[in-house]
Amino acid sequence: MIEQTLILIKPDGLKKSLTGNILTRLSETKLKIVGAKVIRVSRELAEKHYAHLKGKPFFEELIKYLTGELHQTPRVLAMVYEGEEAIAKVKKLAGATNPEEAEPTSIRGAYGRILTSGIFENAIHASSGLREAEGEIKLWFKPEELVSHLYPVEEAVKEKIKELIWA
Ligand code: PPS
Repeated sequence: MIEQTLILIKPDGLKKSLTGNILTRLSETKLKIVGAKVIRVSRELAEKHYAHLKGKPFFEELIKYLTGELHQTPRVLAMVYEGEEAIAKVKKLAGATNPEEAEPTSIRGAYGRILTSGIFENAIHASSGLREAEGEIKLWFKPEELVSHLYPVEEAVKEKIKELIWA
């Protein structure tokens, strides 16, 4: 089945200049990249992304991690990969969420660690299932930012939208 999956290279991955290595590893999957952007993640976006973890003792640290506050690097590289069994393929390559339990050759096994605060600093996020992937892709990307659409889109006319333009 053709799937799309959301991949985030988190602030530690960017701070440690791991982007090239991680993209090379991802190319092993032979999946197609259909969207990519560097984002300054707002607290609101981070809270929505990790909404299912609200109430966990590490939630606040997790938000600081994704917004870049923890690494003084407010940047995340968000990408959508598409292809046959994309979710499982990327999950396998990413490795277990807990870096200590991840295969040493997986991305998290190679580059992750557990901070003294207990937070998993694991360089990458990857969607865990079909439902999560759909929600996450729709949260992080607008249809126009993807070159291929797996989920239905429709046209809407929007007026009075305030946005930055080149001066
Ligand atoms: S769960 O338990 O299945 O609902 O959680 P999951 O969807 O795997 O997401 C957990 C995310 O929180 C990050 N994180 C931690 N989880 C558990 N324990 C600790 N200490 C912890 N620290 C951080 C974990 O890395 C998951 O985020 P992602 O972005 O998917 O790696």
